[in-house]
Amino acid sequence: MRLRNVKDADEILEKSIYVIGDPKSFRGKWADVFSNDNPIFLEIGMGKGDFIKGMAEAHPDWNFIGVEKYESVLVRGVQKLDKLNLPNVRVIAVDAIDLSEYFDREIEGIYLNFSDPWPKKRHHKRRLTYVDFLEVYDRVFCGDARIIMKTDNDSLFESTLVSLNNYGYTFDKVILDLWNHEEMFNVKTEYEIKFSNKGFKIKYIEASKKK
Ligand SMILES: C[S@@+](CC[C@H](N)C(=O)[O-])C[C@H]1O[C@@H](n2cnc3c(N)ncnc32)[C@H](O)[C@@H]1O
Repeated sequence: MRLRNVKDADEILEKSIYVIGDPKSFRGKWADVFSNDNPIFLEIGMGKGDFIKGMAEAHPDWNFIGVEKYESVLVRGVQKLDKLNLPNVRVIAVDAIDLSEYFDREIEGIYLNFSDPWPKKRHHKRRLTYVDFLEVYDRVFCGDARIIMKTDNDSLFESTLVSLNNYGYTFDKVILDLWNHEEMFNVKTEYEIKFSNKGFKIKYIEASKKK
């Protein structure tokens, strides 16, 4: 995708210490990137980066890799990250369907925040919790599979519950109105704020599957 609207976008991505331009070369070696053996979490569809920034600050002993399909979106997040010193964050511009080309049983958990809902039935295969994606995720988890999802979208929420259940996941938490669930620690995303302000309830799923 062309990098519209951001001046010097290519240069920003090339120069940023957060961007891993050649993620395939680190397959099986991501601990070396962070110089530690701390757990590594992915956020797929990181958008403009508020979640990964907040999580990395809240959990300095966890590592986070932001995965974003479009460089034109990623560059916005990178501009924010470049102002900070977060040694436990990296980002890659790749499609989630190819994740097993970049990771080999190294990932502790996957965050899916406000993934595209793909409302048309013929597009449901593109949903990030469709079985084709769950099969790919199986190849990147180091231990039990763990997926944590937030969405405002009822159809995506329901299909995710069905898809995860059919694939053998069990549900550790299902919350229908996250913002009114006081005991939950929650780093808000850009979309989360936008949709909650429009009156949508934020739904939350935490699911796992034994290795
Ligand atoms: C609706 S936005 C949500 C952004 C952010 N997570 C938030 O909550 O504000 C969904 C993001 O997922 C990205 N995305 C969609 N499909 C993807 C895929 N297959 N692999 C990686 N990123 C993807 C899109 O480019 C977009 O930035």
